[in-house]
Parts: sequence; structure tokens; C-alpha cells
Amino acid sequence: MAQKAIAVLTSGGDAPGMNAAVRAVVRSGINKGLRVFGVYRGYNGLLNGEIKEMNLRSVSEIIGNGGTMLYTARSEEFKKKEAQLRAAEFCRSNDISGVVVIGGDGSFQGARALTEAGINCIGVPGTIDNDIACSEYTVGYDTAMNTALEMVDRIRDTAQSHDRCSIVEVMGRRCGDIALQTGIATGATAILVPEVEFNIERDVIARIVNTQKTGKKHFIIVVAEGVGKVNDLAKYIEQRLGIEARATVLGHVQRGGSPTLRDRVVASEMGYRAVELLAQDIGNRVVVMRDGKITDLDITEALQMERVFDTELYKIAMTISI
Ligand code: ADP
Ligand code: F6P
Repeated sequence: MAQKAIAVLTSGGDAPGMNAAVRAVVRSGINKGLRVFGVYRGYNGLLNGEIKEMNLRSVSEIIGNGGTMLYTARSEEFKKKEAQLRAAEFCRSNDISGVVVIGGDGSFQGARALTEAGINCIGVPGTIDNDIACSEYTVGYDTAMNTALEMVDRIRDTAQSHDRCSIVEVMGRRCGDIALQTGIATGATAILVPEVEFNIERDVIARIVNTQKTGKKHFIIVVAEGVGKVNDLAKYIEQRLGIEARATVLGHVQRGGSPTLRDRVVASEMGYRAVELLAQDIGNRVVVMRDGKITDLDITEALQMERVFDTELYKIAMTISI
């Protein structure tokens, strides 16, 4: 009988720490006597036959690198049933019985579809946004937050020198976690996130005016990408309050860079657990962090969960950033 094989791919937006997860999968798999293939460019690699067998040294020197050595992609084609069946057939023809999928919610839907097509898949949450409801933590989040923190600190230096208001947009299309964490850590006067309804007069203008009265002359406003319109907000603040305002969109700088210790460690634990499951022929699960511990959940159950925004932390930020 052929030696059992598994594969690993990264899909959707890249995130620092994905390499650490790939490394953990490859090394844990080989340690269990499995062959391990790297699949290049997400699900497209299964459709185009872009795979390569990995050995222990294939993943040397990657734990500290940002990005993903396996490259990533968004594959529209893979959303079609015919493509999923073809990908499953490709796996079978290479004796691949299981795949670790490192990505976000969308990638987990792909993992569920591939499991239904007969190949066990395990999802590992990898996205800077921390927007996966089933897990308290996603690989890449800590690095992204710390990058945003450093950038906002730099912006504060110049805002302070000029007595200006700086509006900073951080990533997070549907999720305000990076904005909330960065906002509280930099003492932002206002934080706007998609999860909390806001009113510009009450939640931005009045907060600036109130802190002005206590002698403050420069202001940081952190805005999540999902709220956007930071240039319009800067213009409005200038017209309304007569203070100079500048907008900065941090953008993809938050997606790159060497992963923090936390991202490297969590990615290693999650990658290891994913292989433990595949080695037991268990599929259709997502490795998650719950109550600070690494565990796993059924993919369908995981995809049905709703994200809970930390309103208590938001309240704390609004109370002390005055
Ligand atoms: P993320 O994984 O970061 O949420 P996307 O939503 O872009 O990113 O999804 C990544 C990829 O996962 C998609 O390009 C596609 O290949 C696959 N995918 C997403 N949704 C589905 C689906 N409903 N069925 C099958 N594959 C999907
Ligand atoms: O999901 C991660 C993320 O960085 C989001 O914060 C952002 O909206 C999106 O990906 C941008 O994706 P891209 O530029 O790769 O299309």
C-alpha cells in the first residue's frame, strides 16, 4: 500500500505566521511517517497540479518570514462543484488523503466542499483581521496589530509637532478588532468600527472638543477599513473645528513583516493539531483557539457562529481616551 500522504495550502489574504503553520504541518506530518506535499497558490494549485513534496529542510528558515512560501490565491474556479471534484480526484491520484487549509472563512467553505468531495480537510485560521467567529485568535492578527501600533505611534509624533488631528485607517473590512486594539493602545480620541453605530458629531467632534477643553492640541482618530472615508472625515474636521487634519491609510503594510512570537507559537500549535486530526483520518474540522486553548470544531458548526465584538473593551477605550 502507498505511504499515506497529506498536503498543505494557504488561501485568501496572506498573513504573517502562515509560514510557521506550514512548517509545523510539514514537520509534524513527516514525524508521523506521512508524506507531505506543499500546494502552491491556494486551491488553484490543486486544479493546476502545482504541488511539491516537502522534506524537513524544505521549511527551514521560514518561521520568521512574513508572507507565505506556498503563495496564496483567491480561486473563483474552485467555488464550482466540477472544480472541487477535479481537485479531489487530483489528490487521490497523488495518494493525498487529507489537506490542511490555512486561511479565512472563505477558505474554510472550500475545505468543507473538498471534504464533501472525499478528501479530509482541516482549516487553520490565518488572517490578520481576527474576523473568524469560531476562534478567539487568527494567525497574523498579533503581528498586524503591532505593525499598526508602531505606525500610529510614528504618526502621533508628527501630529503632536503640528498640533494636528491625524485620522488613521487600519485594515478590517468587516471587523473592527485591529482598530479597537490599536486605538486603545495609542490613546486614540475616537475609534470608529463597523460593529458599533456612530454619529460623527457625538463620537468624533464632541470628543475632540471635550479634550481640547482640557488642553489637548493633537488628536488621533483610528478608523477601521470597513468604515473608511478617512479623507472625507479629515476635511470635515478641518472645516468644522478649524484644526489641521491629515488622513493616512495604512493598507498592506499591515499584512507583511516578520511574525511576532505569539503568531509563530499559535501557528505552530495549530499546524501540529491539524496534522494530529488528519493522521486519525478526521476531516471537516477547524482548529481554533477557545478560552486561550487550542481545540477543534466541526467546520459547518464553526461557519455558523456569529462574531462577538468586545463592547466592554470599546467602552473602556472611550472612557479613558479623554
Ligand atoms: P478568506 O479565506 O481569507 O476568507 P476568501 O473569501 O477570498 O478568503 O476565500 C478564499 C478562497 O476560498 C476563494 O478564493 C475560493 O477559492 C475559496 N472559497 C471561498 N468560498 C467558497 C465556497 N463557497 N465554496 C468553495 N470554495 C470557496
Ligand atoms: O482579510 C484580510 C484583508 O487584509 C482585509 O483586511 C482587507 O480588506 C483585505 O484583506 C484586502 O485584500 P486584498 O488587498 O488582498 O484584496
